[in-house]
Amino acid sequence: MKKSKSDAEIRATKDGSTTLFSDQFSQHYHNPNGAVAESRHVFFDSLSIPERLERGEPIQVFEMGFGTGLNLVLLKDYMERSGNRSEVTFNSVEAYPVESDLVKGFDFGEELNAGNPQKWLETIFSELKKGLNRFEISEQLTLSLYIGTFDEMPSPPQPVTDIFHDPFSPEVNAELWTPAVFHRIKTFCRDDAMLATYCAASKARAAMAVGGWHTARKRGALGKREMTVASLNPERLSGLKRLNDDRLRERFERGDFE
Ligand SMILES: C[S@@+](CC[C@H](N)C(=O)[O-])C[C@H]1O[C@@H](n2cnc3c(N)ncnc32)[C@H](O)[C@@H]1O
Repeated sequence: MKKSKSDAEIRATKDGSTTLFSDQFSQHYHNPNGAVAESRHVFFDSLSIPERLERGEPIQVFEMGFGTGLNLVLLKDYMERSGNRSEVTFNSVEAYPVESDLVKGFDFGEELNAGNPQKWLETIFSELKKGLNRFEISEQLTLSLYIGTFDEMPSPPQPVTDIFHDPFSPEVNAELWTPAVFHRIKTFCRDDAMLATYCAASKARAAMAVGGWHTARKRGALGKREMTVASLNPERLSGLKRLNDDRLRERFERGDFE
């Protein structure tokens, strides 16, 4: 297997798409049971992105951890399928970008491969420089990708509507799961913004609650029992199973998660 600068190597997942395995973090970038299936469920279905694109709603995403670029590839595909009715900005951040050569070996599954996303994604990776990188992916879709760590990243210029919180797990990537991080994300969001993450750890949920978010649980992807969604406006969580944010905050402040 080929190694990238970020020390990641390509691995197959059970839905036919590939992911990466990071030696640095000792973790897969996606669920080994299906990278594409997991991303569709956790970010796109949970935040009703396909329906909102059908309605032509403008969307401003912030993704924590660009990784393979899979979420951008999926977003572009959903936009095309809905007739490109929405203006969309995909803001993302990546501290350890993979080498562009590695992208040739990415497999996004039959449906997505048909548009040959590897080609434009490889060009993007080959042009990345430290700091802010901007690409017009299509007339309606802009990528704003900061190469560096989240704490160095300037806030996105437009209020963000949707957060794809996709770091490695809190055990190995703890600096991206703190109340301060969730509080900072809140400062650049619209007041009805929604956040989705594959993670269901109480510690992560408590950090969201301390950081100013209302939280709820949802069924996880591919047999995982739960994932988490959060919003700045609790009305956006109606119909979901709410978590007890006061109790999470109390437990955090008591040091239960140290
Ligand atoms: C689970 S992977 C993201 C997967 C990605 N969304 C995808 O679809 O391929 C987590 C990513 O966060 C990046 N990362 C870890 N710590 C970071 C930090 N402090 N700031 C920015 N990026 C970070 C890692 O390099 C990795 O690419």
